[in-house]
Amino acid sequence: MSGTEQTAAQGNADGGARRVIDTSVAHSARVHDYWLGGKDNFAADRAAGDAVIQAYPGIVASVRANRAFLARVVRFLAAEAGIQQFLDIGTGIPASNNTHEVAQSVAPGCRVVYVDYDPVVLLHAQALLTSSAQGALDYIDADLRDPRRLLAQAARTLDFSRPVAVMLIAIMHLIGDQDDPGGIIKQLLAAVPAGSYLALSQVASDIEAEQMAEAARRYNRLARETQRHRSHAEVTRFFDGLELLDPGVVPVPRWRPASKIEADAHSAMWGGVALKR
Ligand SMILES: C[S@@+](CC[C@H](N)C(=O)[O-])C[C@H]1O[C@@H](n2cnc3c(N)ncnc32)[C@H](O)[C@@H]1O
Repeated sequence: MSGTEQTAAQGNADGGARRVIDTSVAHSARVHDYWLGGKDNFAADRAAGDAVIQAYPGIVASVRANRAFLARVVRFLAAEAGIQQFLDIGTGIPASNNTHEVAQSVAPGCRVVYVDYDPVVLLHAQALLTSSAQGALDYIDADLRDPRRLLAQAARTLDFSRPVAVMLIAIMHLIGDQDDPGGIIKQLLAAVPAGSYLALSQVASDIEAEQMAEAARRYNRLARETQRHRSHAEVTRFFDGLELLDPGVVPVPRWRPASKIEADAHSAMWGGVALKR
């Protein structure tokens, strides 16, 4: 989607009203795609992405380290924790190592539901994401801030009487305090049985603090959604009532890295995984 500015329209996944893709203002999914080296972004997204890079040059390494975190977490959950159902909220534009690819490469019967509210993500998810024959895949066009609706739609594909991994990877910084992010997480975790997991990563306010604060100011001037970076203590509170797995809430490259190179990657994101007992 590189090239000229344009406004496209697509139906939504549930056959609802057609939604306009607004290319005039930066959207998080497309800015993220730009940082990951993708082509599904517009001039406004690249301008916001570049403004952040100028404030915090480590952003590109940081989002890549977050993708590697996602892949390690999904592999752990499918291969070692026996999880066969994934609810991946804030999917983003498909990149490498999407959740269902990693999960189904380990356990082909895995069932994965992707959730995002960006129509560009919807477009690409429908075109690119296909399930293994044994597993299942669904894409839901829904807003994390309405968890009840999201969960009702996810129940078309996921069996909520069996464990589910709730994945909130690099999305919570887009949920402001006014939307009660802790309450949203509690509602999601209340819907899944014991033996389920929460996997979460969030942009940090207390790693490279000055650069990150400037990056947020620049991004928030240019983008549709505003960013709310959070401290280690704030991110740890998202796991309240759950049993955090080792090594706890850490910079994402330090969460069970596969190599020293991975562990030493640059990142300003906190991440962790916890079990619901
Ligand atoms: C930074 S991207 C992260 C993509 C992917 N999880 C990753 O870590 O690579 C954040 C995604 O969350 C989506 N998003 C933001 N706020 C949302 C909300 N309230 N409901 C659903 N999706 C949302 C955006 O559209 C975007 O695709």
